[in-house]
Amino acid sequence: MFRNLCDYTNDPIEALFVRLAEDSSQDKIDLGIGVFRDDSGKVPVMQAVRRAEQQLFARDLPKSYLSPLGNQDYCRDVERLVLGEDHPVLREQRVISAQTPGAGSALRAAAELVHSLVENSVVWVSEPVWGHQLEFFDKAGMAIRTYRYYDQSSSTLDFDGMLDDLGLMMPDDLLLLHGCCHNPTGQDLTIEQWHKLADKIIETGAVPFVDVAYQGFGEGIDEDVAGLRLLAEKVPQLLLTVSSSKSFGIYRERAGLLSVIVSPDAVDAESVRRKLRDTVRQLYFMAPDHGAAVVHEILSTPELEKLWRQELDGVRQHVADMRRLLRQTIESANPGFDASFFETQHGMFSCLPISADEQLLIEQHFHIYMLPNARVNVAAMSGNQSARLAEAFAFIRSERGTEVQQAFA
Ligand SMILES: Cc1ncc(COP(=O)(O)O)c(C=O)c1O
Repeated sequence: MFRNLCDYTNDPIEALFVRLAEDSSQDKIDLGIGVFRDDSGKVPVMQAVRRAEQQLFARDLPKSYLSPLGNQDYCRDVERLVLGEDHPVLREQRVISAQTPGAGSALRAAAELVHSLVENSVVWVSEPVWGHQLEFFDKAGMAIRTYRYYDQSSSTLDFDGMLDDLGLMMPDDLLLLHGCCHNPTGQDLTIEQWHKLADKIIETGAVPFVDVAYQGFGEGIDEDVAGLRLLAEKVPQLLLTVSSSKSFGIYRERAGLLSVIVSPDAVDAESVRRKLRDTVRQLYFMAPDHGAAVVHEILSTPELEKLWRQELDGVRQHVADMRRLLRQTIESANPGFDASFFETQHGMFSCLPISADEQLLIEQHFHIYMLPNARVNVAAMSGNQSARLAEAFAFIRSERGTEVQQAFA
């Protein structure tokens, strides 16, 4: 059965993690995987999470099945957290949600749902985008089109290019947007740009699909979703995915949300709910509950919610500090180079302005591992690692056009 698999190659991200694991250097640095690390290099568990777990354990709760739509208490809490207590779409009861095994599964389920409803379905994704996201749409059978978003060589947003490309969207095309802390670039839209984007969406009849994976990592818990909130007010319908992996630090527990915001004149919201239930059941049957139960416990216990907000503020502050430090170390190792984009971008990731060959050179000479597009996890970096990265970047710039680089060209 498996004999044809002998030449099977990993996808580029998995392949990178294999190279990282096989590198025996004592000095290797993993800037790839998307987790937050504290000053000691640990991936911490929040106190709010630990206390919520203790409370749940003490209550001796049952473990029987839930519905394929998962933990609906979690859904209500996360809808409010992301959209805001009093958002019109919540008041008008236009939000239909499933709790999923993380946003990854929510993305896959959304793609499946759309593809089953729209013949020749198309999704528009930013260039560049988090690589795994493409697979979710591709494997569901959707056609993928890209829009200009970020110019890596100048480290700037290409908003005019984005709007031009999106002018080609057709009614019912899906437009994938990152709610905040864009993966991989860290480059977000301003509120004015969200407004213009909403106009373009309405003009074309496309359906926005906002993926929120880093709420609280950028400017603030509410600030990070301001663009989503205004879009949800302006456009008739919207798809939403939310990850609790980073905001609650519960990555392996797999808690996320998939919501369909139906238009005000939607004929039958109950049919949407049934379709959503069938879609997720056919894909993975049911989501695990523990992570969702922990998030619900935190968000429904004022004292725990306060603690969680404080802890997330601390994470955001740490990320901002690391961004400032990285800018300083890069600029002092590369006189004349403007690295201010590290400070203006948001969240875990930013991309170094280097080519794929140069990235490989850094991997081989400096044992520093980044994801495609030279995506660096700033939130996992220590001060010492930041200095090593600055040194590696200076080396690359000094070698540009030399034999070392040509060997990689
Ligand atoms: C933009 C984006 N969406 C979704 C996910 C998936 O998150 P989860 O762990 O909830 O599956 C990630 C994870 O890295 C992400 O960066």
